[in-house]
Amino acid sequence: MDIKGKKAIVTGAAKGIGKGISLKLAEYGADLSLVDIDQPVLAETEALIKDKYGVDTLCLNVDVASIDQTKSMVEETLARFGTIDILVNNVGWDVAQPFWETTEEFRRKIIDVNYRGPVNCCYWTVPHMIEKRSGKIVNISSDAGRVGSLGETVYAGCKGGVIAFTKSLAREVARYKINVNSVSPGPTMTPGHIEGTTEKLREALKRAIPMGRQATPEELANAVLFFASPLSDFVTGQVLSVSGGLTMVD
Ligand SMILES: NC(=O)c1ccc[n+]([C@@H]2O[C@H](COP(=O)([O-])OP(=O)(O)OC[C@H]3O[C@@H](n4cnc5c(N)ncnc54)[C@H](O)[C@@H]3O)[C@@H](O)[C@H]2O)c1
Repeated sequence: MDIKGKKAIVTGAAKGIGKGISLKLAEYGADLSLVDIDQPVLAETEALIKDKYGVDTLCLNVDVASIDQTKSMVEETLARFGTIDILVNNVGWDVAQPFWETTEEFRRKIIDVNYRGPVNCCYWTVPHMIEKRSGKIVNISSDAGRVGSLGETVYAGCKGGVIAFTKSLAREVARYKINVNSVSPGPTMTPGHIEGTTEKLREALKRAIPMGRQATPEELANAVLFFASPLSDFVTGQVLSVSGGLTMVD
C-alpha cells in the first residue's frame, strides 16, 4: 500500500466513513486536504490525525454542491501541496421518507449533494490529473444505488448515477493512467446512519446482513485504501460492495 507522501483530498472528512478514510490514508503516510462543511468537528478530526500520524493536513470549508467552492478546493489544495494524487468523493446525505412525500427543495438538495457533489469535485480535479498522467479517484456510492433502498428513492437514483458516472469517467481517462473506482457501502455505523434510521430498522438490517452486523468506517476505509494505492493500478471502473454480504449482485 505505497501511498506515503501522496497528496489526497477527502470530502466529508469530519465524521463517519470520511473520517475513517482520512485516518486510514494518513496511517499509510498520505498528506490530506480535509474537506467538510462542519468545521468545528473537522478541526477535531484534523487534530486526531496529526496527533496519531503527523502527516501534513489542510482543512477546507467547502460545500461540494457548489461549483465555485469546489474550484477553490482544488486551487487551494494545489497551492498547498503542488499536486493531487488521490481524490475521495465521500460526501453523501439523505433522510429516509416516502418518495411521494418529499418536497422539491429536499429532492434538489439530495441531487446537489449526492450527484452534483462528486461531479463538481471530479470536474476540477481531472484536468490536473490528465496533465500529470496519473491519479486515483474513489467515489463512495451506496448499495442503495445497486439494489434500491426503501424510503431512499431519489438518493438511490443519485448513487446509481455515481456508479454510472464512475464507469464512464473511468473509460474517458484510462488513457491518462487515471483510475476511477467506487466503494459501495452497505449499512455502516456512522453519525449519518444513526440520524437517518430508527433503532428498529438498524436491528432489522443486522438480521438481514449475513455477517450479522453493520460495517465500521474503518472497513470501508480499507477498500478505499486499495483503490487509492498502486495495488489497484490495473483496476478501473469497478464497484466494490462492503456490506457483510447484504448484497451479492453483479
Ligand atoms: N453510513 C451508511 O450506512 C452508508 C450506507 C451507504 C452509503 N453511505 C455513503 O457513505 C458516505 C459517507 O456516509 P456517512 O454515513 O459517513 O455520512 P455522515 O453523515 O456520518 O458524514 C458525512 C460528512 O459529510 C459532511 N457533509 C455533508 N454534506 C456536505 C457537503 N454538502 N459538503 C461538504 N461536506 C458535507 C458532513 O458534515 C459529515 O462530516 C456517503 O456518501 C453516504 O451516502 C453510507
